Amino acid sequence: MRPGVPGDAARIAELIVRENHRPADRDAIATSLATAPSIVAFDGEEMVAFFYGRPFAPDIVEMQNMLIAASHRRRGLGLAVVARIEEDLRQAGYRAAIGANSILHRGTTPERCMTARAFWVRMGWRIMLATGGSVVLVRWLGPGAHPEDGITAPPS
Ligand SMILES: CC(C)(COP(=O)(O)OP(=O)(O)OC[C@H]1O[C@@H](n2cnc3c(N)ncnc32)[C@H](O)[C@@H]1OP(=O)(O)O)[C@@H](O)C(=O)NCCC(=O)NCCS
Repeated sequence: MRPGVPGDAARIAELIVRENHRPADRDAIATSLATAPSIVAFDGEEMVAFFYGRPFAPDIVEMQNMLIAASHRRRGLGLAVVARIEEDLRQAGYRAAIGANSILHRGTTPERCMTARAFWVRMGWRIMLATGGSVVLVRWLGPGAHPEDGITAPPS
């Protein structure tokens, strides 16, 4: 497991097309890899996992996509990838991460979507917003990041 670099974009895109059955924009992925911490994991030469995002605010990152290859699921790899990225994000100065999970994405199924939601809740991410088709998840990463910390009341 190591941090991703823009040169990993082509292999990430291949994994998305193969496993998620939807198109992937290599250039957009490369831009994300260049602008925020990410993780890629290999089994030998084969890429089997990734997690990448982009800055959302100076201290908040929007995690855009995570995938563990179907051949490597339910072995704790997802948990290890999330633990590592959360630590790297803290080191990079991020105080919170957000992400979305949607049943409306091309190529997904209700079962895959519910698996991912169960996984995120287990990882300690909180559902902050839900529409009929999507949820927004939030993870607080460090001091001053809790919703009740640092909120300044508007002047009366
Ligand atoms: C969701 C995903 C990342 C989980 O990765 P993983 O490596 O299989 O997860 P782990 O083995 O680390 O599982 C950690 C915990 O998550 C939960 N979990 C994982 N898969 C689950 C499933 N199919 N059903 C219910 N809970 C599940 C469990 O609590 C599990 O702990 P346990 O094995 O001790 O019960 C993986 O299934 C995946 O890549 N899915 C397709 C892409 C996707 O949905 N990405 C997220 C988009 S929002």
